[in-house]
This record gives sequence, C-alpha cells and structure tokens, in this order.
Amino acid sequence: MTNHFPVNRALFDEVMVPNYSPSAVIPVRGQGSRVWDQQDREFIDFAGGIAVNCLGHCHPALVGALKEQADKIWHLSNVMTNEPALRLAKKMVDNTFAEKVYFANSGAESNEAALKLARRWALEVHGPEKTQIIAFKQGFHGRTFFTVTVGGQPAYSDGFGPKPADIVHAEYNNIDSVKALISDKTCAIVMEPLQGEGGIISPTNDFVKSVRELCDQHNALLIFDEVQTGVGRTGDLYAYMGLNVTPDILTTAKALGGGFPIGAMITTTEIAKHLKIGTHGSTYGGNPLACAVAEAAFDTVNTPEVLKGVSDKAQLYIDGLNAINEKYNAFTEIRGKGLLIGAVLTDAYQGRAKEFLNAAMDEGVMTLVAGASIIRFAPSLVIPNEDIAEGLARFEKAVAKIVNA
Ligand SMILES: Cc1ncc(COP(=O)(O)O)c(C=O)c1O
Repeated sequence: MTNHFPVNRALFDEVMVPNYSPSAVIPVRGQGSRVWDQQDREFIDFAGGIAVNCLGHCHPALVGALKEQADKIWHLSNVMTNEPALRLAKKMVDNTFAEKVYFANSGAESNEAALKLARRWALEVHGPEKTQIIAFKQGFHGRTFFTVTVGGQPAYSDGFGPKPADIVHAEYNNIDSVKALISDKTCAIVMEPLQGEGGIISPTNDFVKSVRELCDQHNALLIFDEVQTGVGRTGDLYAYMGLNVTPDILTTAKALGGGFPIGAMITTTEIAKHLKIGTHGSTYGGNPLACAVAEAAFDTVNTPEVLKGVSDKAQLYIDGLNAINEKYNAFTEIRGKGLLIGAVLTDAYQGRAKEFLNAAMDEGVMTLVAGASIIRFAPSLVIPNEDIAEGLARFEKAVAKIVNA
C-alpha cells in the first residue's frame, strides 16, 4: 500500500481529537514483549497496552484463533448467539463464582452493565429508595458518564453537566469511611480489588472482608471491578480468588481479549435475572471474532504454569527495581501484586513520573505511570526472563539519567 502523505506524529495533531497526547514513537509491529517503531527501533514492552497484552504481541495461540475465526464468521449481533461466545462464557462460569455472563466491548461498558444491573436489582428486590452507590476515592472505572462519575477522581467527571445521581465516595482501606456512608439505601459498593490507575494500592484483607460484611448487613451488592486485575494479572485468575472474598458481580476486560477489545460482566443467576429481555444490550458485545480470541487468551492464561510464572516474574521485577533503588534512591516503595507493579517516587521526584516514562522510552523500554508520582509496570504475563533483565537494565539507564541530571 502506498501512502501519498507522511503518517507521523504530526498527523495526529492534524486529524485527531486532542484528548490524548501520545508519544512521538509510532510502533508498527510487535512480537512477544518486543515492539518496533516506524524507524525499526526496538523497545521492550513493560506496559502491555495498559495491562491488556497479557500474552505479549502476536502470541501464536491468539493469532491462530483470530485467523481461524476470521475465515468463519466475524459478526452476527445479539439477534443470534454464536459458538465462540458460548464456549467462552461456559469457561468463565466453570472457572469463577459466576453462573451468568454478559459480554461488552470494554471495561467501561462492562462496568456500565454492572451498575445498571445493581440499580435494577435493588429496584425490583428492595424498592425505589435503594439507589445509593458507594465507590472509592482515586478509583477508576472507565469514561462513560456513569462509570466516570462512580470513579473517584472528580476532575474526570467535572465539566460535562449534571452527573448521574446518588453516588458517594469512601476512602480506600478505611472501613470507618464506608460505615459512615452505608445504609439500607445502599444498592452496591463498587471497588477495584487493587486500585490500578489510582496508584497501585492493595487493599488489606481485613478491609475487603469488612466491606463484604457491610454489604451483607445492608443487603447491598458487592461489585469487583477486575478490569485491570483480572485474567491472571495478580497471579490468580481473578484477584478476588487471592483475597478469599467473593463479589456478587465482577467485571473484566483488558487482558480478557489479550489485545482484542472485549469485556464482560459476570454474576449469579439470582442477580442476573433482573436484566430481563430488552433491559440492556450492545451490538458488538459477544462478537464471535472477539470471543474466539478471548477464549484462546483465557485458555492460555488459565494454566498453572502461566499463573505460577506471574509471581516468579514479579519477583524478578521487585528484586531488579530494589537493586536499582539501592544505587539511585529514587523510590520509597515497590508495591502491587503479581505483574501489576508500582515504583513510588521519593519526595525529590514528586510529580515527575512522566519524565521517568519518557526517559525510559528514550532508552528503549515502555513503561506506564499511575498518577503523577508512580511508575507502573504491567507487562505480558509470559514475558521472557531475559526481556525483564534487559528492560530493567534499560530502565536503570533512564533512572540514572534523571538522578544524575
Ligand atoms: C479498573 C478499571 N476499570 C475500568 C477501566 C476502563 O476500561 P476501558 O478503558 O476498557 O473502558 C479501566 C481502564 O484503565 C480500569 O483500570
């Protein structure tokens, strides 16, 4: 294909809505945990498309599933069901607490479905007064107007007119702040079982257990947003499994498709029955192409080798980052669970995480930030150990550059 105009970063500013500020690097191909840009410069990928590419780039199982399904049937709509969707749903049900699955196309849409279901359930089971949703400060649940309002960063939901009502925010890991808000009018508590965008903050076991107990006392549903933590990221298939607390509704996206857009909301039969025919829907949700890829991703991740590998690889990151820190003293803490890791910058570097990300990019390693002062790592769950070592060596050079500047 011949381009008659240059396809470069400048074209972004010319033709794209200015809501993003992407890097100057334009990747054109990837293999495993390595990515190459237009100039054939090679990068090691510690970002994973923001915790999406759980099997790296172009994993043979995913490419195979995509190609096979591409030759069969791509799309039908929800007027008909399809084999990949039913197979994937069956596997999700067989491997989690859930009995029913609703497919969407993204994390936000999966959460939108969860929130609408919770409200509908409360209305039908308990009456019209039970509408309050408790979420958490710094939480992130997506960018639809409902989900962004449930998210705990008002800056993201301000400026768009009247917000969906009856949503309040408690403090993560502070059970008293939840107690102060909850009542029999609470319809659901929504939480990430490890806050990702908010700064890689793990909940304490006691906190999660107490949130579950409060929900039970007040007949409120517990919704776990596992969009970022799900499908092996923390070393369990879903993070709730490692916390020994079971939600009533769980949402999953990102890694579910390994890079192909798909999301899902899963729940029990008893709750699911309140999304009756016609109450909610999506043209693309459960699309056979997406579900075929997701089925391959789910099967590949949901093995003892891959899940056990997550904690082994996480240890390599922790050891490597601690070794870097011994030399440069740039972090107060390395935290997170499994391959969702945050390096928290010291006071000297507050607000400068993006600088570290840019410097790392210059050295040939892609990272993420989680807020202004935390560098985030969310690599492929099957990243080769040599790529971790090489990527950390490149990251060390970036840290050295900033610290010695
Ligand atoms: C916990 C959580 N929920 C929801 C979302 C939104 O997902 P999506 O961007 O696919 O709508 C994200 C994305 O970062 C997330 O981390």
